[in-house]
Amino acid sequence: SARRPLIAGNWKMNVGGPEAMPLAAGVARAAKEFSRVEVVVAPPYTALAAAAHELAEAKSEVGLAAQNMHPEVSGAFTGEISAGMLRDSGASWVIVGHSERRQLFGETDEMVTRKVAAAIAAEIRPIACVGETLEEREAGQTLAVVERQVRAFLDELAKAPGFGVVAYEPVWAIGTGKVASPADAQEVHAMIRGLLARASIGLASATRVLYGGSVKADNAVGLLEQADIDGALVGGASLDAAGFRKIIEAAH
Ligand code: G3H
Repeated sequence: SARRPLIAGNWKMNVGGPEAMPLAAGVARAAKEFSRVEVVVAPPYTALAAAAHELAEAKSEVGLAAQNMHPEVSGAFTGEISAGMLRDSGASWVIVGHSERRQLFGETDEMVTRKVAAAIAAEIRPIACVGETLEEREAGQTLAVVERQVRAFLDELAKAPGFGVVAYEPVWAIGTGKVASPADAQEVHAMIRGLLARASIGLASATRVLYGGSVKADNAVGLLEQADIDGALVGGASLDAAGFRKIIEAAH
């Protein structure tokens, strides 16, 4: 497709300390080798500034993402971080609505939508995550669940076509080593593309839709060659620069 491939590494609650700097530097080196691919890394909040420093030193175009944010600009929200604060830490992206946030921290479609809207308003690019659980897949509800989740923030994405990204991450594939087959993933990605097209053709053609869930160097090519899979959101395999480099290479 004409869309630039995007490979994003979600470090989750790992690599918070001094290890963030060598990992960011390693990703910067890998990204320079494969410049057709856009690369983003998402360290924990406390490592954002160090990673930003490292990427700037390396004159890297690797983007920096946070893994979450609060939708309000400021106020009495103990322990929370706003989009403006992310920007101050050097981030220009944010992962929103990750299934771990939905499942472990009670994040609803409504909250995800507020976060997408607030991120866009602050010129932080949202990577909005959707995906069905194993129970939902086995009940034949995959497309209905993902449609509901995407519809929640569709109007917000449509305000700035191409600025936001959608990530389809089947919950049963996250951290399990059970990757969706390229055909199964493509079926859901095509449905998401169709929803984007209902908002506008421009939104559908400009929006990257990433796949996430046990992406590794050896399964990345099959996924990335699907028509509606524009990149990957990588968890475990993004914690090692050499392995992550191979996934960037697969997208090249
Ligand atoms: O955000 C990333 C996803 O949760 C995928 O994680 O690659 O470790 O399965 P994983």
